[in-house]
Amino acid sequence: MIVSKSTPLPSSSFASYSLCSLQGSLLTLAILTLVSFTYLSLKSFHSSLSLPPQTNSSISFLLNLQDSEVDADVIHFPNIFHLNYMEMEKNFKIYVYPDGDPNTFYQTPRKLTGKYASEGYFFQNIRESRFLTHDPEQAHLFFIPISCHKMRGKGTSYENMTIIVKDYVEGLIDKYPYWNRTLGADHFFVTCHDVGVRATEGVSFLVKNAIRVVCSPSYDVAFIPHKDVALPQVLQPFALPRGGNDIENRLHPHLAWTNLGFWAGHRNSKIRVILARVWENDTELDISNNRISRAIGPLVYQKRFYRTKFCVCPGGSQVNSARIADSIHYGCVPVILSNYYDLPFNDILDWRKFAVILNERDVYQLKQILKNISDAEFVSLHNNLVKVQKHFQWNSPPIRYDAFHMVMYELWLRHHVIKY
Ligand SMILES: *[C@@H]1O[C@H](CO)[C@@H](O)[C@H](O)[C@H]1NC(C)=O
Ligand SMILES: *[C@@H]1O[C@H](CO)[C@@H](O)[C@H](O)[C@H]1NC(C)=O
Ligand SMILES: *[C@@H]1O[C@H](CO)[C@@H](O)[C@H](O)[C@H]1NC(C)=O
Ligand SMILES: *[C@@H]1O[C@H](CO)[C@@H](O)[C@H](O)[C@H]1NC(C)=O
Ligand SMILES: *[C@@H]1O[C@H](CO)[C@@H](O)[C@H](O)[C@H]1NC(C)=O
Repeated sequence: MIVSKSTPLPSSSFASYSLCSLQGSLLTLAILTLVSFTYLSLKSFHSSLSLPPQTNSSISFLLNLQDSEVDADVIHFPNIFHLNYMEMEKNFKIYVYPDGDPNTFYQTPRKLTGKYASEGYFFQNIRESRFLTHDPEQAHLFFIPISCHKMRGKGTSYENMTIIVKDYVEGLIDKYPYWNRTLGADHFFVTCHDVGVRATEGVSFLVKNAIRVVCSPSYDVAFIPHKDVALPQVLQPFALPRGGNDIENRLHPHLAWTNLGFWAGHRNSKIRVILARVWENDTELDISNNRISRAIGPLVYQKRFYRTKFCVCPGGSQVNSARIADSIHYGCVPVILSNYYDLPFNDILDWRKFAVILNERDVYQLKQILKNISDAEFVSLHNNLVKVQKHFQWNSPPIRYDAFHMVMYELWLRHHVIKY
């Protein structure tokens, strides 16, 4: 990696001088990073795809800063991330429209638990964070605080959700001058509910211009990678503590109680049907075409993540699945089995350092591919996985580098692109 952690910081006057002159270059680089990884993510994620070369010349003018909280091993451009993150913490301001009754669909989360917890946490965290401003003139971005998860909680039909979002946004457009300045490009909307993305379809500018922060970054609902943001789906609270530093529990698949690979779930997509059909009777891959019944014992499903090397994460009704965040939390290296998936934070984090990224057609060679990964490679993947755990966890109030701050950083990158 590019960063040498032991490099001492130059004297402070030099540091501040360099930091000032760096601002412009940093911004350009941040945009370049975003654009290049967006380009990458547009292509399918096969294993053969390699990263663009990281030359020293393009970044050598940046300072090597020490930060024990950020791990350079798993980040594409650690220096840029570090400096830009500091800028974000200092300056980023979000205005939340005050309109809408918190007792119906607006402002506050429905809950902070369950499949759509990420949506709830964002609504909660934004108000607890330093990024909130009550002065729209100071704001870099505007948050449209309508919750699809709350609408579903009140039994609103999908058609009505679209109408409610449309009426609300049109109300804001009429009442405030902010939307019309950029036709919504500095506005964003957050939803983890799968149909939430469709609920924006009543306002075409909401789809085409505004930033949609969504758990389901599917191209069939016009997810635009350089504009929109993939929100990690995290089912919190986790039933059991974080895994990690437990290599010995995973490295010996010949022992009866460890597995090479694991998946158990509903067969609600083509890839899951194939996965189950090909591997259901395998002795090394623990693939079960049904959910593990709670009747067989407490937390049997979760405990299995602790003694498996690779946890297979095929898409279900949507490409995303809370299984990815579960695997990360429990220290089981995720195997992403999707043709197209803009993985959360993939323009910041180098997923290949802590996950195995496969194309769906690789399902037939799954066992050989996983067996081919050497113990040394596995240990490296696992150790890096532990380093990213904090990025896939929500907290209230939010803490540095957690899922909330990573989403904010993605928004911060996108605000640079908007000029008005
Ligand atoms: C970057 O610089 C380091 C230290 O000077 C060197 O070890 C490394 O090989 C260089 N990498 C590239 C891609 O030139
Ligand atoms: C949808 O909206 C219409 C008109 O407001 C209402 O009559 C109907 O009950 C709503 N349906 C649902 C399922 O919310
Ligand atoms: C924004 O533009 C729309 C369409 O031209 C218009 O209907 C609306 O009144 C404008 N909003 C404001 C606050 O002027
Ligand atoms: C797995 O075993 C079951 C029961 O013996 C059998 O019906 C099924 O065809 C087997 N599947 C495969 C892929 O071999
Ligand atoms: C596994 O590794 C062997 C030897 O390097 C290679 O020939 C084979 O193609 C690999 N298999 C898969 C499925 O990657």
